[in-house]
Amino acid sequence: MRLLYCIFITFACAFVPTLHAAERNTPIVIAHRGASGYLPEHTLEAKTLAYAMGADYIEQDLVLSKDNHLIVMHDIYLDQVTDVARKFPSRARADGHFYTIDFTLAELKQLSVTGPFINILGKEIPKYGKRFPLWHSQFQLATFAEELELIRGLNQSLGYNTGIYPEIKKPYFHTQEGRDISRTVLQVLKQYGYTKPDSKVYLQSFDAEELQRIHRELLPAMDMDIPLVQLIAETEWEEKQVQRAGQWQNYDYEWMRTPQGLEKIAGYAAGIGPWYPMLANEEGAESALLSHARSLGLKIHPYTFRADRQQIPDTFRSFEDFVAFYVEQYKVDGLFTDHPDQVRDYLQKRPKPQHEDASP
Ligand code: G3P
Ligand code: CA
Repeated sequence: MRLLYCIFITFACAFVPTLHAAERNTPIVIAHRGASGYLPEHTLEAKTLAYAMGADYIEQDLVLSKDNHLIVMHDIYLDQVTDVARKFPSRARADGHFYTIDFTLAELKQLSVTGPFINILGKEIPKYGKRFPLWHSQFQLATFAEELELIRGLNQSLGYNTGIYPEIKKPYFHTQEGRDISRTVLQVLKQYGYTKPDSKVYLQSFDAEELQRIHRELLPAMDMDIPLVQLIAETEWEEKQVQRAGQWQNYDYEWMRTPQGLEKIAGYAAGIGPWYPMLANEEGAESALLSHARSLGLKIHPYTFRADRQQIPDTFRSFEDFVAFYVEQYKVDGLFTDHPDQVRDYLQKRPKPQHEDASP
């Protein structure tokens, strides 16, 4: 594994100086779960590669372990990216899932990590067929602290200032488990010096009420002031569940797409993270969500731009066309991408706006 690091660092030294020379008005490249198009998501190796590819920000999805360590992983379950079912077969809950919060950090460190897979009748099928093969090499789960030390360490050794983009996963679930994940995330951010608007951090969540609590209570109490980003989901994705009349229901996200809703968001967040199709209306022109958000001065960071052939909408001939459309037509402020090198390549070679070439 050390050899892999050396290769990545060499790559970084060769390419980062020009890659980080961002132009005016260039959108930020957010490495979604690291360079997850090339290596298992959220591993330190995927984050190192993303750094080397010139990402401006690197994303961390965060959940808690049994002993209250923040673990960098997308789901509250371990099922789809680890060998937990083989190593701890008796530890699934009644619903069949293995929950990260039921395992200590020492136990989590015993697991091998791979790219996301779906188990169909006992056969593990990779979610993205042409990516890094399942179970090749050896990868581990990482804590938030370990990842911050990696990124800060690279910033020191290479001299750049790559940012972080943590997401608090499912606060409602953690609350049900008796935990305050948001407070824990802020404590670690503060410990590592991410406390101010210019600390190169955006803190994101799909949970509007939790972001409002962070804005109103937690940040002032901890003497912190960092920008928040409201992620917007489709209601049926089950990103948040709420209890109504004793029944668990999907939280309704529709309000966020209205002018009043966006005004409310602008009161506590610096930006929004919409699913990229939400930026277009049914006629293919820009949506009211996009125009209202822009008029309110909210940053617009859509997710997730993936270069795998099946992940590119049919309306685009190539990944480059897909990215170009959102950058040039919709003028987004940033893009979450599994393929940060390809987005960076496009941004490096895009034609300059005419006014930039005009000399006095
Ligand atoms: O956080 C932006 C994007 O990552 C949201 O989707 O489900 O990949 O966390 P998800
Ligand atoms: Ca995320």
